[in-house]
Amino acid sequence: MKTHIIILLYIVVRSVSGQLNDHQNPLLSDGYNQSKVHVMQDGHQDPIPSDVYNQSKVHVKQDGRHQPEYYGYEPPCPDAEDIAPCVCTYDSVFNVMDLNCSAVENEDQLKQIFKTDFPFKNFTSLRIEHNKNLKVLEAGVFNGISFENIYIVSNKLEVIELQALDSCHETATELYLINNKITSFPFDELSLFSKLRDFDISYNSLSVIPADAFHGLTALEYLYISDNNADIVGTFQDLPNLRDVYLNSNPITTTIPVQFIKTGSSDLSSIGLSGNNIVSVEPGAFDIVDGLDIDMDHNSLSTLDEATWRPYLEAGGTLEANFNPLVCGCDIAWLFAEDQLLEQVYNAWCTDGEFLHDLDPSIFDNC
Ligand SMILES: *[C@@H]1O[C@H](CO)[C@@H](O)[C@H](O)[C@H]1NC(C)=O
Ligand SMILES: *[C@@H]1O[C@H](CO)[C@@H](O)[C@H](O)[C@H]1NC(C)=O
Ligand SMILES: *[C@@H]1O[C@H](CO)[C@@H](O)[C@H](O)[C@H]1NC(C)=O
Ligand SMILES: *[C@@H]1O[C@H](CO)[C@@H](O)[C@H](O)[C@H]1NC(C)=O
Repeated sequence: MKTHIIILLYIVVRSVSGQLNDHQNPLLSDGYNQSKVHVMQDGHQDPIPSDVYNQSKVHVKQDGRHQPEYYGYEPPCPDAEDIAPCVCTYDSVFNVMDLNCSAVENEDQLKQIFKTDFPFKNFTSLRIEHNKNLKVLEAGVFNGISFENIYIVSNKLEVIELQALDSCHETATELYLINNKITSFPFDELSLFSKLRDFDISYNSLSVIPADAFHGLTALEYLYISDNNADIVGTFQDLPNLRDVYLNSNPITTTIPVQFIKTGSSDLSSIGLSGNNIVSVEPGAFDIVDGLDIDMDHNSLSTLDEATWRPYLEAGGTLEANFNPLVCGCDIAWLFAEDQLLEQVYNAWCTDGEFLHDLDPSIFDNC
């Protein structure tokens, strides 16, 4: 029971500290001590003093492979010199095996490293951070080695080739590609990432984002595509567990079409469309979900059209509409009606400089 609590606590700590974070997780930092691993009958691991552990208890199967439920005495990491400058660390308490390839010197070296014989091919995480050398992540580079959490963040990476991440199709839950120079990503392959929960390709140089490529990603909860200056084509549909979608700071011009974000998710809580030059939003553009926040700040809306926005506000949603050229004529009188929907609109000013919430409702009496 205690182990479960520790593991649960660890998962919480890890998922908090694992986000976009350059600091090493303190739980992982002291490397591994194989001799501390003890595996109980039910497969859960328990840290026990090393002198209790008896090496002769390690079972090796007929075929020479170790019992799958624990590593035994042999460290799961490959020999350090075989994979340098990548660094493998293993935390035996939580059975977490991480690979940090941030110091890799070029594409060939990375490819060569993964030709090493890895005792275990299933890593928990891969990190390539603040690397100035890699421009291309080549097809097949990981040579069958898989990762669950992939942090390829703040590098100079330009191209991710088709099949570069093929070994992770069935394992990746987090794919963070933030702050690179990515112009080419294999969107056609996205639907193969069956467990993908977080996808973040913000702060890159994509010119087109095909929204249809995300259709049917049933595990996807967080989708971040902000700050790409990309044209978003197609629609985001059939994403039944989506919570947040951020498309901010992409030059989506003119009109948001019907069913642009129709995920079918009842957990949808945030749609970010700020900084996009949007002139109008068609009625029925988004899912209608209680508590949904739609951020339309920094766009080119001249009105808050009743047919479009009333359904979201009536359902308990909120709308951010700051920094839009709102004219504030009879077209917004509906916000001042008895149902007080104005209260669910945040921070909006009219072009004449008046704060929307300060307008005297009686000015709409003749509308
Ligand atoms: C990964 O390696 C780089 C360079 O070798 C190092 O600066 C960084 O702190 C490491 N990150 C983690 C999380 O260990
Ligand atoms: C592993 O643990 C044992 C006993 O706790 C200790 O004596 C040994 O120094 C540890 N080894 C490493 C590499 O931390
Ligand atoms: C380990 O197991 C061997 C064989 O079963 C036994 O002879 C030895 O005394 C054990 N050592 C410890 C420290 O328990
Ligand atoms: C890797 O796979 C083995 C065999 O299935 C398993 O025992 C081990 O826990 C896995 N390692 C990690 C880090 O998930």
